[in-house]
Amino acid sequence: MVILTKKIILDCDPGHDDALALLLAVASPEIELKAVTTSAGNQTPEKTLNNAMRTLQLLGQTQIPVAGGNQTPLVKELETAGNVHGESGLDGAELPTPTFEVQPLTAIELMAKVLRESDEKVTLVVTGPMTNAALFLRVYPDLAKEKLAQIVFMGGAMGLGNWTPSVEFNIFVDPEAAKIVLNAGIPLVMAPLNVTHQAQILEDEIKQVGQIDNKVAKAFHGLLEFFGIYHKDPKWGFAGAPLHDPCTIAWLIDETLFETKKMNVDVETTGELTRGETVCDYYELTGKEKNTEVMLGIDRPRFIQLIMDSLRSFG
Ligand code: BDR
Ligand code: CA
Repeated sequence: MVILTKKIILDCDPGHDDALALLLAVASPEIELKAVTTSAGNQTPEKTLNNAMRTLQLLGQTQIPVAGGNQTPLVKELETAGNVHGESGLDGAELPTPTFEVQPLTAIELMAKVLRESDEKVTLVVTGPMTNAALFLRVYPDLAKEKLAQIVFMGGAMGLGNWTPSVEFNIFVDPEAAKIVLNAGIPLVMAPLNVTHQAQILEDEIKQVGQIDNKVAKAFHGLLEFFGIYHKDPKWGFAGAPLHDPCTIAWLIDETLFETKKMNVDVETTGELTRGETVCDYYELTGKEKNTEVMLGIDRPRFIQLIMDSLRSFG
């Protein structure tokens, strides 16, 4: 059987759930991971870049080109999420030291190189703040229109927040970048908190990860246990830890895992209480173009099965 692969660039800020998204992409025969670029977000730009390198080393994927991107958001000061992801940004496991080099390019230069060299359109997946994506769209607008198939991103929410009452972390870090990306005219697929909060991995499922007999699963067991700590606070009402970023790759692997609805999504950048809120026009009140396919539901058991199968594939 011929599997039609989707070529992707993953722009991320690892981050535990980013690392799991990376694993899903590498493990899937449906995905061809052409490059990894990193943004400042969950931790400082140096740490997220190092974490992407260490994760690829663990996954045995040292041939994948990696480049670091923005040092700060476009307008705001950088705020990081060490309270969620720890001091390193990827606390909870000993990860190997990279034996390969970072590309001598910036993130947006590597994105441009991949797109120019590709015969087919490429999907940009963004699982961190959208600073690199926005810079890319501003510097290479024609290349983006010609060669970007779509941007699939984890970020935002419809009426929820995890950093301020109505603002999700990735959009909170760089609202101005998100506004550029959402208004760029490129097809968009969004994994908001509404779906990622359903994409929980439960405690006993994390234990099952620990029983998978390979070094990748062992490392991810430690990472998931650490990631679970922050989400145990009863205020969230979670039964496990929400696997935000893997929803993007899972969508590319199997769209039937998700329920979606197309609507206009824009970003509030000036609100006194709401800077960074994604404004989702669910009821078509604005008449604006439905620019985004928004994931709203997930088949959680099948999603977890995909994650378990991917972890087992490293045996
Ligand atoms: C998002 O913020 C980060 O902490 C996670 O990696 C995810 O991308 C969830 O709000
Ligand atoms: Ca992330």
